[in-house]
Amino acid sequence: MTVIGLGYLGATSAIAFAKMGHQVLGIDPDQAKVRALQSGSIPFFEPGLDNALSEVKSNGKIRFASSHDDESRKANVHFLCVGTPQSKVGLSADTSYLFTAVDELLPYLAKDSVIAGKSTVPVGTADLLIEHIRNIKGFLPHLSWNPEFLQEGRALEDSLYPNRIVIGSSDRHSTWTLRQLYRNQIEEGIPVVETDLRTAELVKVAANAFLATKISFINLMAEVAEVAGADTAELAKAIGYDDRIGSKFLRNGIGYGGGCLPKDLRSFVARSRELGLEDSVGLLEQVEAINSRRRNRPVEIAKEYFGSLVGKEVLILGASFKPDTDDIRDSPSLEVAELFVGEGAVVTVHDPMSLPKVSATYPTLRTQPDLETAFRNKEVVVLGTEWGQYKQLDPASVSISSRPGLIIDGRNALDVAAWKQAGWAFMALGNGFHQVEEKSQSSQAVA
Ligand code: UGA
Repeated sequence: MTVIGLGYLGATSAIAFAKMGHQVLGIDPDQAKVRALQSGSIPFFEPGLDNALSEVKSNGKIRFASSHDDESRKANVHFLCVGTPQSKVGLSADTSYLFTAVDELLPYLAKDSVIAGKSTVPVGTADLLIEHIRNIKGFLPHLSWNPEFLQEGRALEDSLYPNRIVIGSSDRHSTWTLRQLYRNQIEEGIPVVETDLRTAELVKVAANAFLATKISFINLMAEVAEVAGADTAELAKAIGYDDRIGSKFLRNGIGYGGGCLPKDLRSFVARSRELGLEDSVGLLEQVEAINSRRRNRPVEIAKEYFGSLVGKEVLILGASFKPDTDDIRDSPSLEVAELFVGEGAVVTVHDPMSLPKVSATYPTLRTQPDLETAFRNKEVVVLGTEWGQYKQLDPASVSISSRPGLIIDGRNALDVAAWKQAGWAFMALGNGFHQVEEKSQSSQAVA
């Protein structure tokens, strides 16, 4: 097979397919990326992927190139894994990389080979690709849409042991070919949904839209809890025991980010509008509005506590959009950091993996790789990304080197009692009790 596009999705899929025993040619026009993979290094941080790459390289199952070659002609399946980023001029997804990838593939496409899309696309894209290929080649291609549901930070595991396999196809040969490819997983009992192309395209967008809705729902409850004086984490635990609701994706905080949920939601809104469904997009617009409001909350809390933030020394813990990745695309934590800069604060960011990326793209933010030094003299600390090392941090040890100030837990991940005992004023998003308690303490201090 070929796997076209070697970003998070493509590189992980290529390595996972090779681990499953298939013969893989990974293709990406970015020569630096190809050279890195050829030499056995992964161009981003993803746990376990480097070991898996050296395993499949050593048994000759994988090869990387910057363009197609004769091997491409022999492939039974060509996986499209290129990016579909948000368009520069609107909310919709830019699918041009897909069409470029297909144009480059066509001279090598055998008539009975299957093209299988994994990229996340607006519903109807596969139909456009079929038309495009038919116009150029003069025959109807075998096309499948086979969305991927991997989460960064656990991408390899999700690819090898997915909770479902979705195969949307234009024809039976495509479905049969993909079933063969996933034969071992299907035999192990992983459920398969065989469907049409449009449903398969929609499944992926619907899954991400639902996850985003779940997060914004709990963040809406957090807004209520903060004002009414209740605890959202306890509330999430209690409703999560109902297995119709489920406990996952109910962590309130500064909201969702990353390269997928935000842009997929916007693209879904744009596509629904194109389909004339203006009334239907209201829910999704609210989901996004709640998500962006929550990013303002740490600054609001700090302003309630200190009044002005001009010149305040602020530390943001975590820069990646979630733990166990160095991906900083649409990171809630970094938006919070920039909002503090906007208030005139002096902002330092700590992160275990992504500081080089932060320095390269956020000139207004200082970075400090040593955690203890980062804490020194900080008046406000915000937990933006719940890396394990922050959860395990002993507040007493950092409080020696820094005057305890205000800590805002943007991910509901820290031990409230331990931080308070070390002298910090502690506030967690979505916890009305902290607000009430600490506000009255700080006003007493002012009085
Ligand atoms: C997401 C989906 O979870 C995957 O199933 C999908 O395959 C992927 O997008 C994709 O489309 O490629 P990912 O972007 O890796 O995966 O991240 P998630 O684990 O979904 O987290 C997204 C954001 O939601 C993060 O910023 C995280 O901190 C936040 N989040 C997650 C919460 O704020 N609360 C929660 O309870 C869970």
